[in-house]
Amino acid sequence: MFEFHSVGKVFDDGTVAVDGVDLRVRRGEFCVLLGPSGSGKSTLLGMVNGLITPTSGSVSHDGTPLVDLNIGEIRCKMGMIHQQLHLVPRLSVLGNVLSGALPAVSLWRSLLGLFPIDFMRKACNLLQEVDLDADHLYRRASTLSGGQQQRVAIARAFMLDPEIVLADEPVASLDPANSRMVLQLLKGTSRRHNASVLCSLHHLELAMEFADRVVALCKGKVIYEGPPSGLTRELLDRIYGVGLNGKSAPADAALTPRMETLTAVSA
Ligand SMILES: Nc1ncnc2c1ncn2[C@@H]1O[C@H](COP(=O)(O)OP(=O)(O)OP(=O)(O)O)[C@@H](O)[C@H]1O
Ligand SMILES: [Mg+2]
Repeated sequence: MFEFHSVGKVFDDGTVAVDGVDLRVRRGEFCVLLGPSGSGKSTLLGMVNGLITPTSGSVSHDGTPLVDLNIGEIRCKMGMIHQQLHLVPRLSVLGNVLSGALPAVSLWRSLLGLFPIDFMRKACNLLQEVDLDADHLYRRASTLSGGQQQRVAIARAFMLDPEIVLADEPVASLDPANSRMVLQLLKGTSRRHNASVLCSLHHLELAMEFADRVVALCKGKVIYEGPPSGLTRELLDRIYGVGLNGKSAPADAALTPRMETLTAVSA
């Protein structure tokens, strides 16, 4: 289990990105990080995968601070999905999914593309799980649509049976229908593999629909942690700001319908 203990991050230029965050990501849960731009979501995710070191507090795995662990071993326990589709464009779909197993494959095997047969099977099964059939296996990743590429990224993230999948704005570059489909596939795959997902989302409506738990950040601090149904209009105003006329001021136009939904929920 991954835990944050009073975690803070102050960058060299003095920017306080994360400030005293306590958080436990439970096994199997779909946990969504919400918050306006600059609130610290990516910094929090970066501290789990070891790319960013906290300046105070610690992130731990099963009780041991990550700084005391071999980061290579830790990375085998996590999958990553990014906003920009980080596939290798010239590589086949199958090759991209297999690349998720690179931390567990020797260098010479990976250079020759000689993956053990179990990994080949697993990659094919995962591609089926994200609804990509055999026709897609040998297509170049660059020939797939954005939604299909993000489904390949999901399959790749699960290659080494991760305990946790870190997803930073995984649907930011997709249209609403594809966003919903990709999140459904991510949630379904994580459920079947008993993995946690820690996922930042800008789209509140999608967070309401998919999150088991929401962690809302504001200026690096957690100002709400709980089920999506607990996000009141007042909290949303704190997260996204209130306009000068006293009306809620969503951070982006896409929030507006969700605010209406929430009014109905909290009325
Ligand atoms: N390497 C860095 N050096 C200095 N400041 C940084 C660095 N990385 C991030 N920050 C700052 O830390 C704060 C949090 O940034 P972060 O990227 O975590 O926000 P975010 O919630 O992911 O935003 P977005 O929704 O725009 O992706 C911001 O003020 C950002 O400018
Ligand atoms: Mg970010």
